Amino acid sequence: MTPLVHFPQVVGVSDCPFINKIQDKYKKIISKYKYDDYGFCKEAPHSNKKFNLLNKWIDGEVNKFIKLHEYKDKFVCKDSWIYNYQIASNQPYHSHPGYIISTVFFLEGYEEDSGLIFTNPIPDMKNALGETAKKSVKTNIWTNRTITHPPKSGRLFIWRSYLMHGVKNKVKNCKRIVFSHNYDKK
Ligand SMILES: [Fe+2]
Repeated sequence: MTPLVHFPQVVGVSDCPFINKIQDKYKKIISKYKYDDYGFCKEAPHSNKKFNLLNKWIDGEVNKFIKLHEYKDKFVCKDSWIYNYQIASNQPYHSHPGYIISTVFFLEGYEEDSGLIFTNPIPDMKNALGETAKKSVKTNIWTNRTITHPPKSGRLFIWRSYLMHGVKNKVKNCKRIVFSHNYDKK
């Protein structure tokens, strides 16, 4: 039997080579912004010159993702926001409608904290592995229902915007600050 890979889902991962140069500086800038009780901030870093260095780097990484897909059009970031997660806050599974490519950049994050979870867009109606509430099962590339990526300062995740993703309740008392960018055709 030869397994042919059909319909794969791809999440791009990049580590910012200059995170130590921008982290404190950017944290100081965003400390003056307004946040709701969950840590959401409407400020749009993609259109703010103070974040030019990061915006250009994210544009470049997204461009590599675009080339991988052999998309021919020019893509630009059209919306962005900031999230400074508070204890007990979470993100229910959602997608980013209206965009083609979405990203999350961890300005500050730690691997023991709540991860970024992507769900398999093809729901399996049966439970062939026999998973129960009391018995977890080992899955693999063919059977994964979710994939979890731990946070890390300077790490960028890139994905097609239709892919459902979320974050479980934050329980650790450490910083989890993200910039989220959304790209569409120019
Ligand atoms: Fe999201």
